[in-house]
Amino acid sequence: MPVNTLMTRLPDNARSHLKPSMIKHHDLITAVREIRGTVTFDASLRELTTLRIGGQADALVVPEDIEDVRRLVAQAYTAQVPLFVLGGTNVLIRDGGIRGIVVSLSKLTTIKVEGDESTVVYAGAGVRMPTLLGFAGGQSLSGLEWAAGIPGTVGGAVVMNAGTHLGEMKDCLQAIQLVNSEGRMVVYPASTLAFSYRKANVPEGIVVGAWLQLTRSAQAKVESATKSYLQYRKNTQPLTQPNAGSVFKNPPKMSAGQLIEEAGLKGLRIGDAQISSKHGNFIVNLGNARAMDAILLIKKIQQDVFHRTGIMLELEWKIVGEG
Ligand code: EPU
Repeated sequence: MPVNTLMTRLPDNARSHLKPSMIKHHDLITAVREIRGTVTFDASLRELTTLRIGGQADALVVPEDIEDVRRLVAQAYTAQVPLFVLGGTNVLIRDGGIRGIVVSLSKLTTIKVEGDESTVVYAGAGVRMPTLLGFAGGQSLSGLEWAAGIPGTVGGAVVMNAGTHLGEMKDCLQAIQLVNSEGRMVVYPASTLAFSYRKANVPEGIVVGAWLQLTRSAQAKVESATKSYLQYRKNTQPLTQPNAGSVFKNPPKMSAGQLIEEAGLKGLRIGDAQISSKHGNFIVNLGNARAMDAILLIKKIQQDVFHRTGIMLELEWKIVGEG
């Protein structure tokens, strides 16, 4: 499951001596000057994540449009304030929150059909995947059915090369639109990005949009395939409880969920974090889970599965922020 988490890098000379905790309020103010979107200082991030866990950001910015993203990136670079793009779906934010500026691209919601045959869809990074699927289905465009039930954003899906057993983002991605660290907009064809399992090698910057090459198909066919994949996920995953998608990547030719089940760990609870009893590769928040509860469960899973099988499960979640 996807998340758009990209740390824009500081200039090398800044990175060496700037500790995140040393960010000054006046640098934050410089970085967000004349931003037309919303700016909130000391913003809680909990409600921006599907897991409903997370401390505060020094500042949360929701840029109004791509022009606003460009301004923010350029100003943050000059002020040497780190930016962190949060999709919110496949991420665990530590209880101490994130220093610097957290960026939500939730206002980049343009979605339209392009191309000579009207089979290319452009979607802003903030478009939610279910919205994209609904749009594609409505236009009788096939190629995204594999993503049914994935709750992340287009930006996140690109950066993580989101996928299921049935397909992945790289299968239909034509190009990405990126604001680079100087604040310039650049388009990269998908052929220039090296994709791997749950990873796209995206150049430094912020993905603000993507073009997807789809194919024409009967609307009913697209919609019924989407519906049946969604039903499968509803049957097998705890979609009604706060979660952040698959915790671990599947080891080659194996299922992390099955390994966790075989280790007898389903249902195990620490604080309000619980290994789902429906699917072993999900951790759910029963109410007021802290990041530390989830991290302890992750360590327990890794230890027990390693002890039983010699396999060290690798995280699919990104764990970010300060402890
Ligand atoms: N299984 C168990 N016990 C469990 C869970 C699964 O034995 O507790 C077994 C199932 O019976 C099945 C196999 O493991 O034979 C695979 O399970 P499932 O079909 O649920 O798929 P998955 O490999 O666990 C992947 C993606 C999901 C995606 C599903 C469905 C990864 C890491 N996860 O899960 O993506 O929804 O396929 O296509 O590749 C995500 O990436 O966040 C995500 C939810």
